[in-house]
Amino acid sequence: MATRAVHVTVTGAAGQIGYALVHRIAAGALLGPEQPVVLRLLEIEPAMGALEGVVMELEDGAHPLLEGIEPTSDLARAFDGASWCLLVGSVPRKAGMERRDLLSVNGGIFQPQGRAISEHAASDVRVLVVGNPCNTNCLIARSNAPDVPDERWFAMTRLDENRAKSQLAKKAGVPTRAVTNLAIWGNHSNTQFPDWVHARIDGQPVPDVIRDTDWLRGPFIETVQKRGAAVISARGASSAASAAHAAIESVRSIWQPTPAGEWHSLAVVSHGEYRVPEGLQCGYPVRSDGTAGEIVTGIEHDADAAARIKVSTDELVQERDEVRGLLG
Ligand code: NAD
Ligand code: LMR
Repeated sequence: MATRAVHVTVTGAAGQIGYALVHRIAAGALLGPEQPVVLRLLEIEPAMGALEGVVMELEDGAHPLLEGIEPTSDLARAFDGASWCLLVGSVPRKAGMERRDLLSVNGGIFQPQGRAISEHAASDVRVLVVGNPCNTNCLIARSNAPDVPDERWFAMTRLDENRAKSQLAKKAGVPTRAVTNLAIWGNHSNTQFPDWVHARIDGQPVPDVIRDTDWLRGPFIETVQKRGAAVISARGASSAASAAHAAIESVRSIWQPTPAGEWHSLAVVSHGEYRVPEGLQCGYPVRSDGTAGEIVTGIEHDADAAARIKVSTDELVQERDEVRGLLG
């Protein structure tokens, strides 16, 4: 067993996603069955009582890999020495809202957190932003963290990837593991483009397996774009267990090498790839060599896909303009 525990910060640890996430991290799902962890759990003052209960349950799990738990409402303590920071803590939307409606409520959370990560986290820190609207919240935090390289910041589009894979698998009558190379382009919003054109089923291009192009261009895309709202409408609360699972898979797809020829979905900083304005935190297909992620290049888009990606990245530009005052 590795000897040194890795410190993992989870913000909003007493919330729905946080609750699901911390137990899986403690059980080794995030960093593997050999890696001890210390959990640093951030909450706001009013939720510290609930966080105490979360800590009690973590203790009651007697997890062999869990070497410490630090519950706190102090940013410096929360991020001290952290190698992975999962920024979940923020307000979820209610029925009838879009995720970007949360920008005015949640954006301000990510400015001080970015600064605190820059000042207190470990030198190898990597950050996944889950709190919505996650692309722009990630941009806010990143821009306030001068000491953390841009490539260490990720916003979560993995839940959309998983949703898209499930829809394609159901349509094709195959298990979800048969579906690979599903990229979510753009924003984690209802403008995102789930790229069915370049996805594969058992190694074959999706359009060669699912001949119903009208379904792919219409109901498939719309279902994925609106799935978060559909869950809120059905459950009365936003997705939690599937979001926690996607957060774990996002992190694993960064530290584990991506199988040859495949990719996963993550929102990473744009350097202008695929004509996305530089500096945006944009959903792309990403591969990892086990140390760092890189955007997959050379994908050709048809006019429909290019137009959809432009709509989504234009939305990211608008969101960035709305939060100018929070950017470092
Ligand atoms: P929740 O309300 O159940 O929990 C959020 C927790 O965050 C609460 O315990 C709250 O006290 C805490 N919190 C609020 N402000 C905080 C701050 N400044 N610092 C630390 N903690 C703070 O919400 P949830 O269902 O867990 O969702 C959390 C966020 O994740 C929401 O913004 C939601 O929209 C987003 N989300 C994103 C995805 C995605 O795919 N990117 C998926 C699901 C949910
Ligand atoms: C999701 O995709 O389920 C989350 O982003 C929550 C939401 O508001 O849709």
